[in-house]
Amino acid sequence: MNNRDFGRRRRQLMRMIGKGGIAILPSAPTRTRNRDVEHAYRQDSDFHYLTGFPEPEAVAVLAPGRAHGEFVMFCRDRDPERETWDGRRAGPEGVVKDFGADDAFPISDIDDILPGLLENCERVYYAMGLNAEFDQRLLGWINQLRAASKNGVTAPNEFVALDHLLHDMRLFKSRSEIATMRKAAKIAAGAHVRAMRHCRPGLTEYEIEAEFLHEFRRHDATVSYQPIVGGGENACILHYVENRDRLKEGDLLLIDAGCELECYASDITRTFPVSGRFTDEQRALYEVVLEAQLAAIDKVRPGNHWNEPHEAAVRVLTRGLIRLGLLKGRVPTLVKNGDYRRFYMHRTGHWLGLDVHDVGDYKVGEEWRILEPGMVLTVEPGLYIAPGTRGVAKKWWGMGVRIEDDVLVTRDAPDVLSRDAPKDPAEIERLMNAA
Ligand code: GLY
Ligand code: MN
Ligand code: MN
Repeated sequence: MNNRDFGRRRRQLMRMIGKGGIAILPSAPTRTRNRDVEHAYRQDSDFHYLTGFPEPEAVAVLAPGRAHGEFVMFCRDRDPERETWDGRRAGPEGVVKDFGADDAFPISDIDDILPGLLENCERVYYAMGLNAEFDQRLLGWINQLRAASKNGVTAPNEFVALDHLLHDMRLFKSRSEIATMRKAAKIAAGAHVRAMRHCRPGLTEYEIEAEFLHEFRRHDATVSYQPIVGGGENACILHYVENRDRLKEGDLLLIDAGCELECYASDITRTFPVSGRFTDEQRALYEVVLEAQLAAIDKVRPGNHWNEPHEAAVRVLTRGLIRLGLLKGRVPTLVKNGDYRRFYMHRTGHWLGLDVHDVGDYKVGEEWRILEPGMVLTVEPGLYIAPGTRGVAKKWWGMGVRIEDDVLVTRDAPDVLSRDAPKDPAEIERLMNAA
């Protein structure tokens, strides 16, 4: 992403906001992990999308038509002593020079300056309710203007949810966003390959997790969410993140791990046998999930609606469950009654972008959203047979399979950004058994 991308987004948003409107976005707050240790700082995705500015204690203001500049930033002032301890700061000058702000002020002056920017604006575009402390400050500035109304000042009288405009923009990825997401998917796919090569019975889940962290960091990426590394029956716990058990010969290993590169997420799941060979049952279950995933990916085409990949996956999974003797009945009835949910209890995907579960509406009114080129989503069907599942032969107990890819909607065929992570069972076995 370069400054031109951020500038283009700001201009697009300002065109929608129009004169008389003003958008205000605070940066993400820092968060304490324990005592005086902070969590790694991650910029707020909306703030990043419009500014590319990575520091905390900043506020971005977009004021279409403002004579002295439409993009105003508040940020931490330069401070040699603090920078010695906490790292470099851009300061207001740096924000103008390197981040394209028209005007920038120290954050410590915001109480004096922001009310003036709000003065005589009609509409404030703001994401209310996400940052309680900033909500209060903003209301304080508005009240200050209201109190001054007898002096001829008019305060904004309308709050508009910024998310509607911004999140619809974020749903459609530009060329440079797609390039970054492709890189993020490539790095994560490489890490899955590395895990397949490295895996053997006797290792622990955390040692496999370490392979991911190594692969991510050596590409300047971090995790986009807590990796799930679940051997054997741990694969049946959907959000298993302890990653503490030893991997056993004859078990499957489910790994859901993706990275974040330049704030963009990848999200990939692969399932493979710890010892490098699927048993007949494992392979049979795996092939049902793979067939469902391929059928779902094939529905990721413009003009189809959001739920079509899910519906395709559910049909194939249900048919497969009948074939394997895990469900009895007819596909339409079992789908209608939701009987497949015993083994497939989540949905087939979500939008992907700056957030792993990215923003964007899934429905427009009552109707599922129609897929359009530039949207990116995951396709991640699975089957999970927890130990002790009643009415299911013991040979299936403790198996969990999920296959997840990141898919771009294009004008033509679906573009699988994470295609470098093998999922064909024969290819996985070849890779795991190569000398
Ligand atoms: N890793 C989270 C998800 O697959 O949605
Ligand atoms: Mn996902
Ligand atoms: Mn995932």
